Amino acid sequence: MTVGRPAATAALLQVDAIVARLEGRAALAEVCRFLEASFAHYAWVGVYRLDGRELVLDAYAGPAATEHTRIPVDRGLCGRAVRDGATVVVDDVRASPEYLACFLSTRSEIVVPVRAGPTVVGEIDIDSDRLAAFDASDRHFLEEVASRLSPAVLPGGARPPA
Ligand code: SME
Repeated sequence: MTVGRPAATAALLQVDAIVARLEGRAALAEVCRFLEASFAHYAWVGVYRLDGRELVLDAYAGPAATEHTRIPVDRGLCGRAVRDGATVVVDDVRASPEYLACFLSTRSEIVVPVRAGPTVVGEIDIDSDRLAAFDASDRHFLEEVASRLSPAVLPGGARPPA
């Protein structure tokens, strides 16, 4: 699927408004709800925070809860994104040996690191029910979303130093 530039620009303004209005997990929950509601190919949207060597689910929006609320960084596509410090896109999760299954309906997934400066502090994780749902436009859009989330992901919703 494609996130067109006008849609991405409008959505980023909404994300800016959310992080200006809310802090910490409340902001993350609202961003998850907004993304899930706005893009038909985003079936489940979550934000994990890196806590030591473990990813902790801080907020999500979607039809069901996941059992993977804590993921060691040596496991899963979520762990891969932290270890590589880079976005992970998997077109067919059923063909990925690293994939940790959450929902039977999931066919593809994108995981985008959230950084504070150069340091990975968390990630956005999105599942789609469509094969190969995420293209370069999703990646660019979600990397821009991620760049806005570090204050909300940091412990206590602290603002990073300017
Ligand atoms: N599929 C992820 C686990 C998180 S669920 O998608 C919500 C992974 O492989 O790390």
